[in-house]
Amino acid sequence: MKPLQFKPFSLGRKIPAPLNGYLKGLAVSSTPSYGVISPYDSNTRSTLLSLAQQSISTPLSQRFQEDPKRAERYSAEIGPLFVDYSKHHIDSNILDTLCTIARNRGVTTQLAALRTGAHLNNTENRAVNYPSLRRWAVDQQSGDSAIDSMYSNMAALVNDIHSGKLRGQTGKAFTDLVNIGIGGSDFGPRLICDALSNQDEPLLKTHFAANIDPSVISEVLATVPAETTLFIVASKSFGTQETRSNATAARNWLCSELKCDDVDQHFIAITSRPESAKTFGIREDLILTVPEWIGGRFSVWSGFGLAIALSTGMENFLAFLGGGHDIDQHVEYSPLESNIPVILGLLDVWYRNAWGISSQAVLPYEHHLKLLPIYLQQLFMESAGKSVSSDGEILQHGTGGVIWGTEGTNGQHSFHQLLHQGSDTIPCDFIASLHSYNPVGEQHQNLIANCFSQSLVLMQGQSAAEIETSLTSNGMPAVDAKKLAQHKAMLGNRPSTTILMNQLTPRALGALIALYEYRLFSASFVWGINPFDQWGVELGKQISQTLMGALSGKESPELDSSTAQLITRYKQAQQT
Ligand code: F6P
Repeated sequence: MKPLQFKPFSLGRKIPAPLNGYLKGLAVSSTPSYGVISPYDSNTRSTLLSLAQQSISTPLSQRFQEDPKRAERYSAEIGPLFVDYSKHHIDSNILDTLCTIARNRGVTTQLAALRTGAHLNNTENRAVNYPSLRRWAVDQQSGDSAIDSMYSNMAALVNDIHSGKLRGQTGKAFTDLVNIGIGGSDFGPRLICDALSNQDEPLLKTHFAANIDPSVISEVLATVPAETTLFIVASKSFGTQETRSNATAARNWLCSELKCDDVDQHFIAITSRPESAKTFGIREDLILTVPEWIGGRFSVWSGFGLAIALSTGMENFLAFLGGGHDIDQHVEYSPLESNIPVILGLLDVWYRNAWGISSQAVLPYEHHLKLLPIYLQQLFMESAGKSVSSDGEILQHGTGGVIWGTEGTNGQHSFHQLLHQGSDTIPCDFIASLHSYNPVGEQHQNLIANCFSQSLVLMQGQSAAEIETSLTSNGMPAVDAKKLAQHKAMLGNRPSTTILMNQLTPRALGALIALYEYRLFSASFVWGINPFDQWGVELGKQISQTLMGALSGKESPELDSSTAQLITRYKQAQQT
């Protein structure tokens, strides 16, 4: 077969206006006003701007032609992952500049502080020490008694349930599990349970209920056997409305199905507020307490991973922690220049602040990673969706952007048109495993061919001139060929990272999640934000309480005319 040949970046047209416009992302007012900070002093800013300008006019395909070792130079094996970041607008000069910025912004120091339990979460006055959770997988001790007792209680619960020591109200062993939780108390276990469900039959059939929409809990309850279903009520605060409502609905349903009031052995709580769980009615010995400093979106490594251990076995949960530990080790012992999660974080900074890009796509070419984009949305957008520094100063530069995506190849028949020909450049992450658990003919090979060809085409594009020549040589009149070629031309020059794993194992999953966490931390430290808090979600929660009062008619708050009108419509609908 004739090899694919692409000309370097040349569409017979100028670089489109939006690309030039990206540079404006940094070209903000040169004299920051009081209370406004930027990580970029004027020298760094002009260096970054001129590097961005040069890189915009240096096609990615040209970079590959000029450096035969480029793929090797800009890729690395890290634990069970292989990361290729060579299809990015970088060279040694750009990377050095970004690493210098990171160093000046204290990224090395803050990453080290992460390992010592420093109070990096300053707005909530909480320590941060996720590596200590992963270390437990190796040593079965962390040096912190709260962590050690959390894991030993977790292991004991898992053992009691799997061995049948803990049984349902009628004496039967549990067959099904429903994890009731939302946000960080749902996404992580849901993702990992789904990812590992392709290996073996689950030890307990696992279901999830998050949303307060009554359809969710009703539909889950309709599929589980009352006598043998165990419920986990997962809520760090134990005050989350959705979780408390769904847990109450589950308990009422169980009492009615089993025709008794005592269904306590069917409910386990995971929380940092054991007293609230007790008041809610959870038996004391079935409360798994998690240290307060563990944030919801980082909690999959902790007791909040109980559903993973119950569904797939404690061994798999430990292997998952072990994968995270692999990345901890890499981050601890690699200089910034070869520290892969840091480099990925710096690429986020580069595109956000020097190119003005505010969107990135996550495209797993692995059906059992289909929930990864949703997981990463919370991880990145709840963490880096900030516009003040950790000291409370208004920021002058862009921070976290929008993360979105879906599994390949589905996305190719949907939004990839925009990735290829839309007016914005959107960096993409392609993620694939090299072996499928469910091989069928050549389907997996074809999946991978699609994955690799998408990143190739995004990078290389195809020029209008080349298309025109091909159309005319196939007999199209020159005038028509010229016109159609403009529509078919692919801009190319669009960056992507490819992450490969041998197979979707618990260890590979742990490494993948930890890789993204460190990427987030590195970018956040450069931006000067606190990635560990989420104050922006609080007001909505408060106002919803007020509006509940308004909808039930118990309160008459003063409201804008739009909200008041919507409330009236809802109330009227209930009367018909
Ligand atoms: O609404 C945001 C949030 O606080 C998340 O950060 C958290 O993961 C989720 O709610 C659930 O909180 P909890 O575990 O306390 O129920």
